[in-house]
Amino acid sequence: MAVEVLTTADGRAKTALSRAHAARWRDARAAGTPIPVGEAAPPLHPARPAAPELLDPRDVPRRRPGSPQGRIALLHAVAHIELNAVDLHWDIIARFGHVPMPMGFYDDWVKSADEESKHFNLMCDCLEELGSHYGALPAHAGMWRAAEDTRDDLLGRLAVVPMVLEARGLDVTPGMIEIFQKANAQSAVDALKIIYAEEVHHVAYGSKWFHFLCGRDNTDPVVVFHDLVRTYFHGALKPPFNEEKRAEAGIPPDFYWPLADQLR
Ligand SMILES: [Fe+2]
Ligand SMILES: [Fe+2]
Repeated sequence: MAVEVLTTADGRAKTALSRAHAARWRDARAAGTPIPVGEAAPPLHPARPAAPELLDPRDVPRRRPGSPQGRIALLHAVAHIELNAVDLHWDIIARFGHVPMPMGFYDDWVKSADEESKHFNLMCDCLEELGSHYGALPAHAGMWRAAEDTRDDLLGRLAVVPMVLEARGLDVTPGMIEIFQKANAQSAVDALKIIYAEEVHHVAYGSKWFHFLCGRDNTDPVVVFHDLVRTYFHGALKPPFNEEKRAEAGIPPDFYWPLADQLR
């Protein structure tokens, strides 16, 4: 099921399949007849639509959120992040089937993938309402790098994807909500508030399973986290941090502050 999502290129088709598979998983769990977890061979790169054109981050035009075009660019960038997130959550399910994990691990990532699919569709709806669509603008090419770098390392994947990248989403989303509030763009405000509320759980699932694995290995989670982020994440973490939401998601300050701004 995960590989099917990963190998579907069109965004709306990928997210429709993702939501259907998540519902199947959930229903089977509720009925007491869980779908068995097997091993799979996910592609190194998920299938993606022909548009948007993927550019080096340095070549993606800068967004000026004060203008309508800038707000469209911002929604487009979020849609792109959400589509990547759909693939990231199915990828962790497909790629690490050889690591024995409790069923709750799969429940959490299936639920996250379902929510990311909803987020992508919400962003597409907002773009279409403004006369644009996903694929109309170029997008960031580097999004899958973290997945590639951590393809052999489940702890590394948890450290970098939910606990660094998705946690970063918690830091920046309130500012985005404010931009759309100022522009009286109510559907974007509503959509971003849903995204903000649900992303806390994805970060929390990352922290939960990271701590679970460290406990199983009898290692110090803070030390292991710092090691893995320095190995797989390129650059320092950017303050200001949303300390309250990060705490709610199970990431205390001693995890991220020592990794902040080390390049300066
Ligand atoms: Fe999301
Ligand atoms: Fe997420």
